Amino acid sequence: MKLTITTVFLCLVFGFVSSCTHNKSTSTQASNTTDISLQSAFAPHFNIGVAINTQQANGKDRQSVVIINRHFDTLTAENDMKWESIQPSSNNFTFEAADALVNYAKSTNKNIIGHTLVWHQQTPDWVFEDANGNLASRELLLSRMKTHIFALAGRYKDDIKGWDVVNEAFNEDGTLRESKWLQIIGDDFIEKAFEYAHQAAPNAKLYYNDYNLYKAAKMDSVIAMAKGLKAKGIRIDGIGEQGHYGVEPPLKQLELSIQKVAAAGLTMMITELDISVLKFPDENNMGADISLNFVLQDEYNPYANGISQSSYLKLAKAYKDLFRLFLTYRQDIDRVTFWGVSDNDTWRNNWPMNGRTDYPLLFDRDYQAKAFVQDLVALASEYQ
Ligand code: G3I
Repeated sequence: MKLTITTVFLCLVFGFVSSCTHNKSTSTQASNTTDISLQSAFAPHFNIGVAINTQQANGKDRQSVVIINRHFDTLTAENDMKWESIQPSSNNFTFEAADALVNYAKSTNKNIIGHTLVWHQQTPDWVFEDANGNLASRELLLSRMKTHIFALAGRYKDDIKGWDVVNEAFNEDGTLRESKWLQIIGDDFIEKAFEYAHQAAPNAKLYYNDYNLYKAAKMDSVIAMAKGLKAKGIRIDGIGEQGHYGVEPPLKQLELSIQKVAAAGLTMMITELDISVLKFPDENNMGADISLNFVLQDEYNPYANGISQSSYLKLAKAYKDLFRLFLTYRQDIDRVTFWGVSDNDTWRNNWPMNGRTDYPLLFDRDYQAKAFVQDLVALASEYQ
C-alpha cells in the first residue's frame, strides 16, 4: 500500500498498524500459523501430501516433523522406496528407511504413497546386466522387475494406499523414452509393471507419474497408454502430474490436461508440487530431467541472502493461482503433494545447478509457514 502523509499520521496517532505495513500475505515475513492446518482446510476437497526424507521419516529432523504432523495427511518417500534404496544389489533388500516411513505414517494415521517401482533413474546398473556384464535378456529383466515389485509392493500391501508404478516413461513429444526398460523388454514393460503391482498389492491404487504432463502431446500419449491398459483389463487408477513449475505455471494447459484425465475416467493427482523462483538455464528444457547439471553461476543464484519482494509476490501469486485451479477441479483431483517440507531440503537447491538457494515450498528455512499459506487456507474455505 502507498504510504501517504495522512496514513502515516493515522498510524502513529491511532495505531492502525495494519494500514502502515504491507498486507501480511504480501510480506516475505513468515506468518504465525499455529492456528491453521493445511490438511484440515483442504480435507473437504482433496488430500494434501508431502514427500519426506530419511531424517524426517525416522524422526531425527524434529522441526520438520512438527510441520508434517500438523499440515499433511499423506506421505511419499522422497527417495527411500526407489530401487537403489530398496535393492542396491541383487536380492539384497534394505527396508529400514522405508519401514521407518511406513511406521511413522501408521502411527500418525497418514496415507502412504509408494514412489516408485519402475524408473530409468536411481536403478542400479546390475538390474540391466547379466552375469557377464552384457545387456540382460527380456526374460531376466522381467523376472527382476517381478521379484522387486513383489518384494516391495507385497511387503506393504496392507499399508500403502497407492503406488507410482511407472515413473517418467514418456518424452515431451509423447514418444516412449529410450530407457533400458524399453530397450530390453519392449514397450509392454509398462503393462507388465502394472500387472505385477496389482498381483503384489491387489488393494492398492496404481498410478502413472511424470513431469510436464500439462503438455498435450505428452499427456495424450499417457492417456492412450492408460486406456490401452484398461482395455486389456489391467488396473490403472490415475495419473500424477508432478508439478515442478516456475513462477508462471502453465495454468491453461494444466486445466485442459485435468479435463482430459477426468474425461478418460482416471483420477488426477499433483504429486511433486514445487515452484522455483530461480531462472532456468535452459528455457527449452524445463521439467525434472535429473540428468541436467549446469555449472553454478552467480547470475542464476540471485537470492543467496534472501528472496526479493517481487519474486516472493510472484511465488505467492503462482501458488494462489494454482490452488484456485485445483479447487475448481476438486471433483477430479484426488491429492496435491508437495515435493519437500521446507526450503532447507528441497532438491531444487541442487537442480539443475548444484548449490543454489531456492524458495519453492510453503515453509521457509526457519520452518515457518510463508505468509501466503494463510491465503491458501482461506481459499479452501471459499469452496463447498
Ligand atoms: O544418499 C546419498 C548419500 O549417501 C550420498 O553421500 C550423497 C552424495 O551425493 O547422495 C545421496 O543421494 C542423493 C539422494 O537424492 C538422497 O539425498 C542423490 O545423490 C541425489 O541424486 C538424490 O536426488 C533425488 C532425485 O530424485 C534422484 O533420485 C532427490 O532428492 C529427489 O527429490 C528427486 O525426486 C525426483 C522424483 O523421484 C521423480 N520426479 C522428479 C523428482 C525431482 O528430481
